[in-house]
Amino acid sequence: MKIGQTEIKHGLFLAPMAGYTDHSMRVVCHEAGAEYSVSEMVSAKAVTFNDKKTFSLAKIFPDEGPVAIQIFGSEPSVMAEAARLISENEACSRLVAIDINMGCPVKKIFSNGEGSALMKSPSLIEKITSAVKRAVNIPVTVKIRTGVDPSHINAVECALAAESGGADALCIHGRTTKQMYGGKADRKIIEKVKSSLQIPIIANGDITNAEEALSMFSDTGADGIAIGRGAVGNPFIFCEIRSALENKFYTKPTLKDRIDTALRQLSIATCDKGERLAVIEARGQIALYLKGFSGAARIRCEINRAETLKEVEKSMLTALNENK
Ligand SMILES: Cc1cc2nc3c(=O)[nH]c(=O)nc-3n(C[C@H](O)[C@H](O)[C@H](O)COP(=O)(O)O)c2cc1C
Repeated sequence: MKIGQTEIKHGLFLAPMAGYTDHSMRVVCHEAGAEYSVSEMVSAKAVTFNDKKTFSLAKIFPDEGPVAIQIFGSEPSVMAEAARLISENEACSRLVAIDINMGCPVKKIFSNGEGSALMKSPSLIEKITSAVKRAVNIPVTVKIRTGVDPSHINAVECALAAESGGADALCIHGRTTKQMYGGKADRKIIEKVKSSLQIPIIANGDITNAEEALSMFSDTGADGIAIGRGAVGNPFIFCEIRSALENKFYTKPTLKDRIDTALRQLSIATCDKGERLAVIEARGQIALYLKGFSGAARIRCEINRAETLKEVEKSMLTALNENK
């Protein structure tokens, strides 16, 4: 599949996750086989206020493959202006698309009429998409859920509204707002969206291994799949899926491979934001690299208290020695 000029051979996307999909996670996922990433969401309003922290979240680096920046908001003119400012910002010059968040279920966002609350008004979806599309000369993509709740499943209508507003691709997470992250992603609705639209569709929800990835493709007919939680502490999932798609043998990473990748992710984050903040922000994620190994729970607790790179390295070394 293609989004604008960007060729996405296997259709493997890293889904946007606030607090997770920063530069460091995007690099390790890209190296493992993710072909395209979407940034943590940034507030369109904050962008238009020229908020420094927001722009630092939107920075794109040369080592991370194609990246789209995701914006959230509800006013077409503000969304359009934010998209324009981001696309013209030097720090975002490698940007391949603007992604519009129409799926966030978080109460604060939803009650502001943003994120998945936009699904209450397909006409607003069309207006926002076309305003953003007119403001930039790169592709515009949209991310939705299946609907707000079980009695308002309107993903097809919302997706069609985004398509008619000019969206170049659409990602659908197969859950309602009400479900948050509970229950299971509904593949039937994803399939309905896929068969109703002309633009590429990216299916999302609950993919944690190659088998689920392959069945997501075959159950929905989607052009791509986006992986979120399944890639946290496990960027290797992209390599596993890629191997399955290419019918190649996949060798699972050893504990040493996992630790090396975790430390690499942490060292990139350290360069970007400084040691203390990088360690504090990433320790939950870093600890997940040890999942399934002996002593993992205890070492995870240790890492969750760490404040320096040295402390994390020491805990990782303990894990390695205990698993020899
Ligand atoms: C911690 C966390 C943060 C998230 N942040 C965003 C976000 O900023 N924008 C967005 O569109 N989706 C966000 N999501 C939703 C994911 O992109 C994805 O749709 C969802 O987790 C289902 O996919 P998965 O089962 O592969 O994780 C977030 C999910 C999690 C768990």
